[in-house]
Amino acid sequence: MCGIVGYVGQRSTAQVVLGGLARLEYRGYDSAGIAIITPGNALVSHKRAGKLSVLRDDLATNPLLDGTTGIGHTRWATHGPPTDNNAHPHLGDEGKLALIHNGIIENYELLKRELVEQGETFHSDTDSEVVALMLGREYRDTHDVSTAMQRVVARLEGAFTLLAVHANQPGVVVGARRNSPLVVGLGEGENFLGSDVAAFVAYTDKAMAVGQDQIVTITPDSVTVVDFEGKPANATPFTVDWDASAADKGGWSSFMAKEISEEPEAVANTLRGRVGAGGIVTLPELDAVLGDSVSISRIIFIACGTAAYASMLGAYAIEKWSGIPATVELSHEFRYRDPVVDASTLIVSVSQSGETMDTLMAVRYAKEKGATTLSICNTQGATIARESDAVLYTYAGPEVAVASTKAFLSQVVATYLLGLYLGQHNDRVSAELSAQLAQDFEDLPDQLEEMVQTGARIKELAGWMADTRSVLFLGRHVGYPVALEGALKLKELAYIHAEGFAAGELKHGPIALIEPGQIVFVVVPSPRDPSSLHAKVVSNIQEIRARGARVIAIAEKADAAVLPHADEVIAVPFASTFMEPLLAVVPLHIFGMELAAAKGLDIDQPRNLAKSVTVE
Ligand code: AGP
Ligand code: GLU
Repeated sequence: MCGIVGYVGQRSTAQVVLGGLARLEYRGYDSAGIAIITPGNALVSHKRAGKLSVLRDDLATNPLLDGTTGIGHTRWATHGPPTDNNAHPHLGDEGKLALIHNGIIENYELLKRELVEQGETFHSDTDSEVVALMLGREYRDTHDVSTAMQRVVARLEGAFTLLAVHANQPGVVVGARRNSPLVVGLGEGENFLGSDVAAFVAYTDKAMAVGQDQIVTITPDSVTVVDFEGKPANATPFTVDWDASAADKGGWSSFMAKEISEEPEAVANTLRGRVGAGGIVTLPELDAVLGDSVSISRIIFIACGTAAYASMLGAYAIEKWSGIPATVELSHEFRYRDPVVDASTLIVSVSQSGETMDTLMAVRYAKEKGATTLSICNTQGATIARESDAVLYTYAGPEVAVASTKAFLSQVVATYLLGLYLGQHNDRVSAELSAQLAQDFEDLPDQLEEMVQTGARIKELAGWMADTRSVLFLGRHVGYPVALEGALKLKELAYIHAEGFAAGELKHGPIALIEPGQIVFVVVPSPRDPSSLHAKVVSNIQEIRARGARVIAIAEKADAAVLPHADEVIAVPFASTFMEPLLAVVPLHIFGMELAAAKGLDIDQPRNLAKSVTVE
């Protein structure tokens, strides 16, 4: 998710930690905070919602007592809106212990109930504060942060990078990680911790990657790594080879490259804790609004751009799995056509930013008409989320590049979870299908990682096409929204004419566009799909090849029917019908980025565009 920094040594902790958080700024965030152990062994801390500059300005006016031990955090809220209280660090042991956390504690509600019963008082809405209070209680028993950390992590489920300091242990910072990143910076008489090397690259290029389920304890002269049972473990040493320009993007050539690499994690985090035994989907945040008692006559997705294409996949899935009619409307068109909306209509807005004015106004319009409104949103506490009756958050983490990538995949997965949730609630999804989809979801992050690794090949393709002036994209059924998304990426990033078509529409006009050398990407359904779509799309490929098109097919591995008819084949792993679009879109995201790079264009901030369109 966001940024974490720890330091022990002789420098000013405030300077090292705030500087590290600034270098993590590329990760995007909504609040920040710092905690320091002072020479008098007191713990001082300060935290603020908003950009890092808000925290810095406060500290410039009212500086904390400095020290040589401390931690700092930038938050991308997942549980509780971005407020001062919800910012990290969170305190334990009567304010003598400070904790910061990147990730999601899945079982925090159960742990919170236990702590309240034990008389603990909470000051925030976050999942993270549970860990701070648990750690404080264990410290009172162990008098050692590392041992206390071992006891606490044994009870946590989910994804976490944790750092903690205690006033009674100056010169010690303890970190723990599961499913979230943590690296050690190795100095002379000083040591560092960070979510990535950007936190300390200004001071040292010697680093160690902390492994899964490991606890690291740093002092100015030592680094000790143990596993969650306390047995000695080895972290992986490496040397940082970033150049200065890359440092402000966490070592990536662009935010978009970083965010494409995070697509597997974005999907894994959005799924985390939501698909139980037998594939039963649990979305407690929706129960009050969409529980068994609610009858929905139809679902209307409202969204713009990439979010609308994610909605199209969701509409297919919801109709298939729940039997409820589902359609997609562009937000800016929706309210101007006097749509039929009433109390039995479920309006599902999909928005990464949660601030898109077109979508916000459409949600308000639907609410006035009496509809129930659900927001699928990636930004905690965003306006659209706050104004909706219920929110299903995606956990893609901050998406900084204007061209959406990882958020798209997490939006699709969130709509699939909604479709399964509804289908299971009205008994339309069999136990076999639930189990199969649970397996598909489990396989998805690794399969996505395989697609992310096709980058080098796609970069080569893009290099050959740097001077192309037009690219077409074809897809059918769930491949059609992928074709639209691929075309949009090319328009946004490479500024060239690109158009996505439903492959069946070709013969109704667009095939006139085909001339020798015309580049066409074709998303090919699985040959194992029981429908006849595969054969029809292969025929479409033959039709355009006959007219001189250069065909790049995105097809399932070993799809022998495609090979003879395509100039290039980008292989995707075997996947079920609704999972294949998520795999097929990754090379198209990479292609858009690489073609823009080949043309020397600004990948993260394309001309004329904004990350969140807050005007109608
Ligand atoms: C996607 O690459 C574009 N930047 C754009 O289409 C975007 O998806 C659209 O503006 C919707 O944004 P939202 O998800 O924040 O509402
Ligand atoms: N889940 C925690 C919170 O919402 C941490 C979020 C993060 O990784 O920044 O505060």
